[in-house]
Amino acid sequence: MKKVILITGGAGFIGSHVVRRFVNQYPEYLIVNLDALTYAGNLENLKDIEDAPNYKFEKADILNVDQLTQLFDVYNVTDVIHLAAESHVDRSILSPLDFVYTNVIGTVNLLQAAKTKWKDDFSGHIFYHVSTDEVYGALGETGLFTEETKYDPHSPYSASKASSDHFVRAYYDTYGLPVKISNCSNNYGPNHFPEKLIPLMINNIINNKPLPVYGDGKYTRDWLYVIDHARAIDLIFHEGKIGDTYNIGGFNEWQNINLVHLLCKQMDEKLNREAGTSEKLITYVKDRPGHDLRYAIDASKLNKELGWSPSVTFEEGLSATIDWFLDNKEWLDNITSGAYASYYEHQYDNR
Ligand code: NAD
Ligand code: DAU
Repeated sequence: MKKVILITGGAGFIGSHVVRRFVNQYPEYLIVNLDALTYAGNLENLKDIEDAPNYKFEKADILNVDQLTQLFDVYNVTDVIHLAAESHVDRSILSPLDFVYTNVIGTVNLLQAAKTKWKDDFSGHIFYHVSTDEVYGALGETGLFTEETKYDPHSPYSASKASSDHFVRAYYDTYGLPVKISNCSNNYGPNHFPEKLIPLMINNIINNKPLPVYGDGKYTRDWLYVIDHARAIDLIFHEGKIGDTYNIGGFNEWQNINLVHLLCKQMDEKLNREAGTSEKLITYVKDRPGHDLRYAIDASKLNKELGWSPSVTFEEGLSATIDWFLDNKEWLDNITSGAYASYYEHQYDNR
């Protein structure tokens, strides 16, 4: 095996697409998927590759230093792609400390484990940290986040991710650990957990439930198909510069309310419902505290230096995403039948 890559958070939404891509594209690598299987982790996401000879799953927690040390030794890990995190802004408002533990302390544990394992010679190793555009704060009506934009996080989630980015850079500056960081905009696609805007709306439209739009619905996000994020991670992992940051985004801004209208339109067509049926479910609800107005990524460095650009239009990606959810009702039902129901009640009832 040429490389042994520890991918953390591989049972989650983006992680599962990254694991699948690396397992399929690089049979000469061993891919070790480390995941604690929190509410967001789901091995069903990886059913198609679970028996691949170059794939191993390890249920482990990045908060458990002994488990990390053991896994680095047992597998002789050569590289890390770190995605494990608490990822939902609304949950970070309810339980900020969970985000500090996993996103900050968990990341430092992983950095420390890599540094200890590779201490004799850092050359040839990569510690790739997957981060978010939310670390840059909020934009007004104009402008884009570049790699030089000053960090200005507002939610406990984005503050914890910003802190983890700082620690990753500190390990590069202080110890010379060979790191790479990418900061990506909002992802969407198959396997997206239905606590986030797009899959939550798809699930509610299927079930004729109210579509909860926060505040006036004029908040803006820059959406990227998850498979294009996985392509970008692959490219940066292999060709990006050590010590560098790369912004990843779809050049695809949508106000939430317009996006919900588009979803309603596409779903009415696919469900053979009369045009305008799903729009009637739109319900404006109490705003998210500290809600960032607008995110938009300038991904031109990634385009110019490494030749990356998104492979699908938003309409195509959204249509494929809806089809995936309609074809995978069992996946959706399994997820929404358990603890999701009590989270939903707590988050949305009386809002
Ligand atoms: P997700 O919530 O779907 O998945 C997170 C995964 O991490 C789950 O499988 C979970 O079980 C695992 N995990 C959580 N705590 C863990 C722990 N202590 N130890 C081991 N595993 C643990 O998240 P996602 O949306 O796939 O995001 C993945 C990464 O990408 C995160 O770091 C997130 O900050 C970043 N990101 C996400 C987006 C987005 O739009 N979703 C955009 C940019 C960056
Ligand atoms: O920008 C990247 C980030 O995108 C990632 O780092 C996060 O992990 C990911 O969760 C996502 O964060 P957002 O807060 O932007 O995503 P979310 O899907 O929660 O919300 C998108 C927008 O939709 C936001 O303006 C809030 C709004 N919203 C969300 C939900 C869940 C609603 O109006 N109603 C809802 O029910």
